[in-house]
Amino acid sequence: MDPRFIRNFSIVAHIDHGKSTLADQLLLKTGAITEREFKEQLLDDLDVEKERGITVKARTVALRYKHTDGETYELNLIDTPGHVDFHYEVSRSLAACEGALLLVDAFQGVQAQTVANAYAAIEQDLEIIPVVNKIDLPVTRIDDVLEEVETVLGLDPYGAVRVSAKKGLNIEDCLAAIVERIPAPQGAPDAPLRALVFDSKYDSYKGVFTYVRLKEGTVKKGDTIRFMRGGSDHDVIEIGQFAPLRKECKSLGPGQVGYILTGIKELDQVTIGDTVTHAGRPAAEALPGYQKPKQMVFCGMYPIDGRDFEKLRDEMQKLALNDSSFSYAPETSDALGFGFRCGFLGMLHMEIVQQRLESEQDVDLIQTAPNVTYEIEERSGDVYKIDNPQDVPDAGVIEEFREPIARVNFILSKDHIGPIMQLCADRRGEYKNTEYLGPDRAQLTYELPLAEIVYDMYDKLKSVTSGYGTMDYEVIGFKAADLVKMDIMVKGERVDALATIVHKSNADNRGRQLCKRLKKEISKHQFEIPIQAAIGGRIIARETISAFRKNVTAKCYGGDISRKRKLLQKQKEGKKRMRSFGSVEIPQKAFLSVLSTD
Ligand code: GTP
Repeated sequence: MDPRFIRNFSIVAHIDHGKSTLADQLLLKTGAITEREFKEQLLDDLDVEKERGITVKARTVALRYKHTDGETYELNLIDTPGHVDFHYEVSRSLAACEGALLLVDAFQGVQAQTVANAYAAIEQDLEIIPVVNKIDLPVTRIDDVLEEVETVLGLDPYGAVRVSAKKGLNIEDCLAAIVERIPAPQGAPDAPLRALVFDSKYDSYKGVFTYVRLKEGTVKKGDTIRFMRGGSDHDVIEIGQFAPLRKECKSLGPGQVGYILTGIKELDQVTIGDTVTHAGRPAAEALPGYQKPKQMVFCGMYPIDGRDFEKLRDEMQKLALNDSSFSYAPETSDALGFGFRCGFLGMLHMEIVQQRLESEQDVDLIQTAPNVTYEIEERSGDVYKIDNPQDVPDAGVIEEFREPIARVNFILSKDHIGPIMQLCADRRGEYKNTEYLGPDRAQLTYELPLAEIVYDMYDKLKSVTSGYGTMDYEVIGFKAADLVKMDIMVKGERVDALATIVHKSNADNRGRQLCKRLKKEISKHQFEIPIQAAIGGRIIARETISAFRKNVTAKCYGGDISRKRKLLQKQKEGKKRMRSFGSVEIPQKAFLSVLSTD
């Protein structure tokens, strides 16, 4: 295929601004899918995505479009996820493109992820086409939105395309803009092959699909290819494209996007970011790859039933293969037994993994409170990272305790600036700057400890701004802070899984809060249960759960036995997610109460 007739592009947008709908609409208008299929939202095909309505994993599809110049173009749409946790996947997809459609909701306007995604596209030197979507809404602010695009992102608003993805309005303009404004890929067909591996997918029947974007050279069925970083050689069994169904083809040339099948059966043999070349005529240099995704949030996951441990291990292994940004390692806890310490890109990523493990594998889990990674410098000069509060060494040996710091951008109406500034101040935030998007909306920038934002900052922001504020963050480094490990003792014994790292200035407060919280979560037993928070050997807070066994059937006066049974059954189910620690039963919710800041 002549590269002059190829266009590679992504659609980037803030969540819910209509990216999937526009993608489907482009498929529909180019005849890749039917009206009926359009309705079934083709590109989001992971179950979790359907359920939550968000895009997690990037996908790609090749479209054929006949332009008014009479030529037929191949448009490769590389889908990107929209949530903060998945920045990494976004930049990975963008590296395979020459252009991007920047989609903005005609009413909501520029939001935090619009800005973050636009910057990611600018960093990759992509041609950006602003697209205002949802022009069919009864109330729109199209002119204001275009002004925001210009002031915040520095993009020319005159070239913006106005569409309704849902109603299919002006989709032709969008397709024409892709052809006319996004540069064609460059690269010589007879140069040594260099193809960027930007994704992979396991198929139980065909093996591993390696998704590539060719930069130079040509690849054909029967060729022997080499993964330049991985170092292994393989014969090409099949090549093709998704359109959106799999379609075999004879060869792929410069600029084209498609898949290669080599019979590789294990996903870990294909590294995302690697370069594919020919074994017989290798390229001199690999393409720049990707940085490894950084896991920023960790938590323990334990099977409620110890017998599920092996099953859980198998499932985690499978999951990690499909999702290189998830990690796991066995750990043991006095309180919870055998389990795993798992690493995630962020909180949403964590929830998605947990949901997948539970719904697909039927393993009930107890999850400990998530924490971020910390850096410790010992007096001896040793520097290392820890991702479990239990690994904090004695205070005596610590020279410096460092925590990750994030730069956070909020986009909100100017009435909400005050409350958000207060919220950030309460969380040890450092004010950086305010920029006005228009007369009523502003972008507020802060530097905040990651630990103070990952858990509930997003929810707090939504409640303070009645749902209208948005945020985005990026970790920028580690910074020393006055941090200490806080232990929790239940009936005199330390419960390792409840330990947390807190800031000294806030420790007493947090200790009291946590003890109160645990008192609420742990039900009464036949004996008294003291709950204590301690730093080093010093007790900083205490609550006591008095002795008494709650009789759940007490409410049922009279003899309705079926109602009584129901209640007892309910109590039994409630017990399922509990762990006995010594003689005290601690419910799952208690482990997460560490997070609560109210
Ligand atoms: P993520 O996958 O989470 O990134 O979301 P998305 O950006 O792909 O959004 P999606 O396409 O799922 O659309 C979000 C919502 O907006 C859905 O309820 C769509 O039906 C609606 N929507 C999309 N385009 C339009 C439009 O042109 N007009 C109107 N009125 N609604 C639209």
